[in-house]
Parts: sequence; C-alpha cells; structure tokens
Amino acid sequence: MKIFIDTANLDQIKKIDSWGILDGVTTNPSLVAKEGTDTPTRVAEIAKILGDRPVSAEVMALDAEGMIAEGRELAKIAPNVNVKLPMCEATLKATKVLSSEGIDVNVTLIFSPLQALLAAKAGARYVSPFIGRLEDIGDRGNDMLAETVNIMNTYGFGTEIIAASIRNPMHVLDAAQMGCDIATIPANVLELMLKHPKTDEGIAKFVADYEKVNGKH
Ligand code: G3P
Repeated sequence: MKIFIDTANLDQIKKIDSWGILDGVTTNPSLVAKEGTDTPTRVAEIAKILGDRPVSAEVMALDAEGMIAEGRELAKIAPNVNVKLPMCEATLKATKVLSSEGIDVNVTLIFSPLQALLAAKAGARYVSPFIGRLEDIGDRGNDMLAETVNIMNTYGFGTEIIAASIRNPMHVLDAAQMGCDIATIPANVLELMLKHPKTDEGIAKFVADYEKVNGKH
C-alpha cells in the first residue's frame, strides 16, 4: 500500500519524507488555508520536495469549464502535480477532458461506491473515499471503502483508491487489510502508527540491562 501524507505543512512533509516511506502528498483548500498561503504557491513547494512522487492540488471552480481551466493551470506547476476535483456532475465532464489531455485527476469528497464508479468511468486516476467524515454522521466508512475496493478490483479501471479522511491508525489498518491502493494519512496518525508501548518498554529494558554490566552507553 502506498502511503501519502494529507497535509500542506512543509515541516510535516519533510519529517515524514525523512522516514523514507512517503509515496505522495494530498492537499485540500482547508489544509492550504491553515498554512496561510494559496494552493499554486504551496503545491509548487511541495512538488519540488517530492521529486517525481504525486501531489494533489484542488481546484476551487465548481463548473466544468472552470475546473478544466483551473486544472490545466495547476497541472502546469510541475509534472508530478495531479488535479483534485470535488465530486459533482461537472466533475465527470472535467475529469474526462483533463484525463484525455494526460492530466491525472483525483476525484475527492467520495462518500459512496457509486460516486467512485462514475469517477473511474470518467477516467479518474485516483478516487478519494472519505472514511472519517462518513463516520462523523453515523455511517460505516469502512464498509463504503471495502465496497469501493471490491468494485475497482472487479473491473480493473486502472483507478487507484486513496483512503482519505483518516482519523486514527485503525482506519489505516482496515484500509491495508482490504487491499486499498493508497492511504492519505495526517502526520499525527503516522506518528501513532510508529509507536507501541511494549516497544518503548522493551527498549528501556535492553538499555537498563546493558548498562547494569557495561555502564552508560
Ligand atoms: O484531504 C481530504 C481528507 O483527508 C480530509 O480529512 O479529517 O478533514 O475529514 P478530514
């Protein structure tokens, strides 16, 4: 499974990149606004850090012509930039046009397998089902993701599924177990994935036992 980080914060991206496990970055307008900058500026900075790994840049237009024009501009930032479009009727047309021009599209704000099916049929390179936000309204995020993975695997659309709106390590574990292609994970959840109290306890014991015989390391 590929691991993306879901952030527009450069320090977080550099830190996780230093672990050697980072396959890409996703941003959205809220994440970019949190950094006090704009999408083209921040995405250019992120794209440079990532080299040839993908970074998603979201359009603000909600009509097809606007999405296409904005998407073309965002794609010019760097070859590794893909265009994120929020799921709606206009998105299908815009996805078809942009993908036929060789621009990768990530259709976001996916909350049902059928939305993902339509986006894939329109030529999306990625679809982003939102797990946490579905659970926020008492629905089953994991079931929605599993159904989406099943449909994509059945038909081989060539569309990769990005498990998004991930709020805790269990969301990542579930996505990995169901064979989801990618998880885009916030920095705090990536940090939690690294940790286990028994690992910390084990390290402390090894150090203590070593130092009993050899003195301080
Ligand atoms: O980038 C889209 C998605 O991952 C947002 O997550 O936590 O704001 O629902 P969240």
